[in-house]
Amino acid sequence: MNILITGAAGYIGSHCAINFINNNYNIIVFDNLETGHIEIIEELKKLADIKFIKGDLRNKSDVENLFKENKIDAVVHFAAYSLVEESVKNPSKYYNNNVVGTLNLIDSMVKYNVKKIVFSSTCATYGEPKYTPLDENHPQNPINPYGSTKLVIEYMLKDYDKAYDLKSIKLRYFNVAGCDEKSRTGEWHDIETHLIPNILKSTFENDSNKKFKIFGNDYNTPDGTCVRDYVNVEDLVEAHRLALEYLIKENKSDAFNLGTQKGNSVREVFDTCQKVLNKKIDVEIAQRREGDPEILYSNSQKAHKILNWHPKKTIEYSIKTAYEWECKLREILAERSG
Ligand code: UFG
Repeated sequence: MNILITGAAGYIGSHCAINFINNNYNIIVFDNLETGHIEIIEELKKLADIKFIKGDLRNKSDVENLFKENKIDAVVHFAAYSLVEESVKNPSKYYNNNVVGTLNLIDSMVKYNVKKIVFSSTCATYGEPKYTPLDENHPQNPINPYGSTKLVIEYMLKDYDKAYDLKSIKLRYFNVAGCDEKSRTGEWHDIETHLIPNILKSTFENDSNKKFKIFGNDYNTPDGTCVRDYVNVEDLVEAHRLALEYLIKENKSDAFNLGTQKGNSVREVFDTCQKVLNKKIDVEIAQRREGDPEILYSNSQKAHKILNWHPKKTIEYSIKTAYEWECKLREILAERSG
């Protein structure tokens, strides 16, 4: 079976590629290398004889050629911009890449009779929680353009199923954490906004990064800091494989939350980082970050029952592997700069 993975040079897409290679799928990886990295593709190439195509989903001829020149049986689609704050400042960039790019992709899928797609969606499509844990029936009212673009795509996929029989599984991620057990890939964003990498980066002496900041400790939570559901990236990508196999077997569209069903506060994650690294880390309390909901954690029972997905890895493991990756990343960057 030939599986196209878009955005395979990025954080989650590259972990998914490793999982699919380990499970003997033939993969074709597509990425424009704008936020993804060629070094990650080189690592993937060491694992299997994969085909890498550099291209952009916004460019119709890139997408057309991709389907014309390759036999593709199904698609796992990650390629997207994903910075919430940037999406508020520049929604055009987000609608153009995420929505128009996906439109080009699914139009070509229909044209070339490729009728199965697993889509990387987000809990940001739910917006401000009305209740927790959030299940798949929670109303979807995104509060930022990033979440809106992902919801528009969910709508497009629903309509394409009805009209063209394109079957899709929408996977709504909570907070993805950790890196590959062998540091072959990891979280590598030129602009880093996420909690765990920011804590870890602050521990490297030569980094120009400032002291780690907790954004607000006056929330209505047990220790005053925001609560999130941190799901390990290797567990998360395993759900993509199960979702694809479900699609192949059942040929039915659906949507699933992917989280651990447990909440950890920012303070707890910070303390766990200190424990895992066995190191005291400097911290300062800063103002709340705009648009951060107080508490977000998932009800992922549906994925347990229907996909037989059972995330196993602990947050300690995620932090350990994320730290190993941070060390490796410094080697890669040193090599790059000669
Ligand atoms: N935080 C800090 N300091 C930092 C970084 C983050 O205190 O340096 C806090 C945030 O305020 C928040 C928590 O840590 O309370 C988690 O923040 P992240 O940026 O790691 O993650 P988010 O919950 O904001 O974002 C995640 C995904 C997004 C998705 C969003 C949906 O990473 O892609 O959930 O709510 F859109």
